[in-house]
Amino acid sequence: MPFTLRNLVYKDILKIDRMDIHENKTSCFIGESGAGKSTLLKLLNKMYIPDEGNIYYKGTSLEEIEAVKLRRKIVMIPQNPLLFGETVEENLQKGLLFSEKPPASRWDLERVLEIVQLGKNLQDQSEKLSGGERQRLSLGRVLLMKPEVYLLDEPTSALDEETESNVMKKFVEAAKSHDGKVIIVTHSMNVAEQYGEEVIRITKR
Ligand SMILES: Nc1ncnc2c1ncn2[C@@H]1O[C@H](COP(=O)(O)OP(=O)(O)OP(=O)(O)O)[C@@H](O)[C@H]1O
Ligand SMILES: [Mg+2]
Repeated sequence: MPFTLRNLVYKDILKIDRMDIHENKTSCFIGESGAGKSTLLKLLNKMYIPDEGNIYYKGTSLEEIEAVKLRRKIVMIPQNPLLFGETVEENLQKGLLFSEKPPASRWDLERVLEIVQLGKNLQDQSEKLSGGERQRLSLGRVLLMKPEVYLLDEPTSALDEETESNVMKKFVEAAKSHDGKVIIVTHSMNVAEQYGEEVIRITKR
């Protein structure tokens, strides 16, 4: 079980008595806008600390795991993707740099661009990318890190349905190939139905 939540309370936003998020399954969090989905993701990688109750990662309370170490294993893409550097390549390498891993080879970089279906050159300026292209760049960046868990906050919200399907299919396959667990917050029934092996509805406290 990667995550178990017990008697969790966070501000007046979330109250979750019990939640088990399973290993080796792609999980989707769904729920209305404002329900607390993004907040829950931030609790899972310790950007927020619960007011009450506990979150366990593989049996260990998050309280006992150093935040920086945790975030190398449990990597989040925020709802509004950030840029990390001037070029596509710098952005892709940044996650590895942050987790003190060796840089990716050119071949790995090209392969990851293909997985996330971003038809750009490594030297292209990332500032010029559209919102949907930035989302795919973020997906590529985290994929290179091969983390234990991916927390993806509406990673395809700016993509058309066909691109969304193609990108998520390849992304989930790539994550599974290294035993990475994927948790996706989504408003897309399309994504939840196709990739949600476990669908968890988040409701406001
Ligand atoms: N740091 C914070 N302090 C206080 N309230 C917050 C904070 N962050 C979010 N909220 C509130 O908590 C509620 C849940 O926000 P959250 O961003 O988790 O919702 P969400 O389910 O991700 O919504 P959406 O689908 O629109 O992204 C909202 O009412 C929001 O205004
Ligand atoms: Mg949100």
